[in-house]
Amino acid sequence: MHILDIAGNSIDAGANRIVISIEEDTKRGILRLIVKDNGRGMDEETLKRLTDPFFTTKGKKTGLGIPLLAQSARETGGNLTVHSETGKGTTLQATFSLNHIDRKPLGDIASTIVTLICGNPDIDLIFKYRVDNNEYILDSAEIKRQLGEIPISYPGVLSILRKDISLGIKRLWKGGRHEYGEGSCNR
Ligand SMILES: Nc1ncnc2c1ncn2[C@@H]1O[C@H](COP(=O)(O)OP(=O)(O)OP(=O)(O)O)[C@@H](O)[C@H]1O
Ligand SMILES: [Mg+2]
Repeated sequence: MHILDIAGNSIDAGANRIVISIEEDTKRGILRLIVKDNGRGMDEETLKRLTDPFFTTKGKKTGLGIPLLAQSARETGGNLTVHSETGKGTTLQATFSLNHIDRKPLGDIASTIVTLICGNPDIDLIFKYRVDNNEYILDSAEIKRQLGEIPISYPGVLSILRKDISLGIKRLWKGGRHEYGEGSCNR
């Protein structure tokens, strides 16, 4: 849910390219979530108010996405940092203690990514999952090029993507570097 919310912020900020990275450093026991966008960015004043649950620019009463993620990170002894530049984009990094009892599970990450791609087919989404030196990468822009006329939000395509992501992530613990298409898709 955090990932959907944070990527939702990027979409609301007009981004057309979002990079979502999850990094597990098993030796240091750290889990990082990094979301980078090329949206409109934020000025200093906005950045200062980000963790205030009553700060939002979306015409409602609360802005909970960032405060809740910051809280989840802090509960594990981690933290949240945000770098942003007006007109250029925003990079948000949440750090968690990987094995802390209070760390929320990542959940069904394949479905989370597929949901984002399906709901925002015009946005280029790059998803990276790294476990120590092993990495899985999916670049929706590249997949759209390969698909040609077929829309990426086509149900058959989404189910292939979901399978590729789950398998790609599972393989990370076995070693190697995998890109989209090496998983369930082509073999
Ligand atoms: N990636 C981003 N680019 C530009 N501005 C952002 C970005 N992320 C957050 N903001 C700004 O920070 C505010 C607070 O974000 P936050 O996610 O905490 O709340 P929200 O999106 O307004 O509401 P909610 O998440 O509860 O639906 C946003 O209203 C927006 O102005
Ligand atoms: Mg939000």
